[in-house]
Amino acid sequence: MNKIALGVTSSISIYKAADIIRLFQKEDLAVQVIMTERATNFIQPEFFTALSGQPAVVRLFDQKQRPIEHITLASEVSLLVIAPATANIIAKLASGLADDFLSTFYLAVKSPVLIAPAMNEAMFLHPQTQANIKKLKDLGVVFVEPESGYLACGQKGSGRLASPEKIVQLGLRLIRQQPVFKDKLIVVTAGPTREALDPVRFLSNRSSGKMGYELAREAYERGAEVVLISGPVELRPPAGVKVERVISSEDMRQAVLKYYDQASVVIMSAAVSDFRFSQAGREKIKKENLPSAVRLEKTPDILEELGRLKRGQLLVGFAAETSEAKARAREKMEKKKLDLIVVNDVSQQDIGFESDDNEVWLLWPDGRERLISKTTKRKVSQEILTEIGAMFNGRKGNN
Ligand code: CTP
Repeated sequence: MNKIALGVTSSISIYKAADIIRLFQKEDLAVQVIMTERATNFIQPEFFTALSGQPAVVRLFDQKQRPIEHITLASEVSLLVIAPATANIIAKLASGLADDFLSTFYLAVKSPVLIAPAMNEAMFLHPQTQANIKKLKDLGVVFVEPESGYLACGQKGSGRLASPEKIVQLGLRLIRQQPVFKDKLIVVTAGPTREALDPVRFLSNRSSGKMGYELAREAYERGAEVVLISGPVELRPPAGVKVERVISSEDMRQAVLKYYDQASVVIMSAAVSDFRFSQAGREKIKKENLPSAVRLEKTPDILEELGRLKRGQLLVGFAAETSEAKARAREKMEKKKLDLIVVNDVSQQDIGFESDDNEVWLLWPDGRERLISKTTKRKVSQEILTEIGAMFNGRKGNN
């Protein structure tokens, strides 16, 4: 099913529903808006009708609607999101009241339900509201915690509607999660590392981190717990993913090792710097003290160490090559005991590094290989996660 229902209630943050609709539409999901009567005091239904391309529903048994619309529609949607959700709608749903379209619809849907509360802090923290939330959580309803910040009442506190990105990301996870990823920790590394020469200068590379961020996002959507260990990049991390920010290859090594025991999969998409300065000064090097040469040394090879310490984890490596790509990648796979290697040909200008697109070969230890022809990094990450899921189901690997 490619349709979701978005319930909107009477909160000042109702305008954020517009972004929620857009973000779902970007994922090729149609959005059916259901408004409470009081929400129409803030925004007319026509606004949501125009934005979603489907008539926004307000009342039960509206003349224009199909008969028993709430039942028909309930069987058509794969998710019900209520954002923003007031204390009132939460209380109604918790007690099973069905006196308008949205509350009736809630009782009719069999799909997952996601609620994003938005209200004054005192109302949100009131034991009655908290009890209502708990009751709904016990029934399987998922909540997106409100954020702290300035509220409509002028006070600062908790109760602000979570960001549209966070709401949509969690919504997509509820639709797209797959049993094979449940309770699995996937560690993804991304971006470059920086190796310091002195406090202001460093050695780094052109990695943008896009591939790793897409992989982290995709793994989260499929239901995994995700830790994204990221070098310095300009990207916004995907919502729902735990982010560990690191600078140097040694920082990255320590961060990966911290999670390695609990991890089911490690995807090393980071472009870890292969060299660092043998001596990094604590003081900034002055022009007059310019050294005539600097010495480099190899950084620790994180993947190789993971290969040595491996106890059942699936290890996925990347290889950035400029010639004889597949043969070299196979050598790396063997040396680092990988279960899958993703090979980028970085001699091609229009893919890889800073590009939004990529074309990669996937190679497995048993000799199997697959080309993912040039497409977006988003699509490439989907294909890689599909292969990882299949590897878990078949438990093929290099253990
Ligand atoms: N990698 C790592 N630690 C390093 C260097 C690389 O864990 N110090 C990982 C990368 O994240 C990637 C894989 O090893 O998944 C291959 O990296 P790449 O730089 O292509 O290969 P190298 O083994 O470093 O060899 P070379 O640069 O000589 O091709």
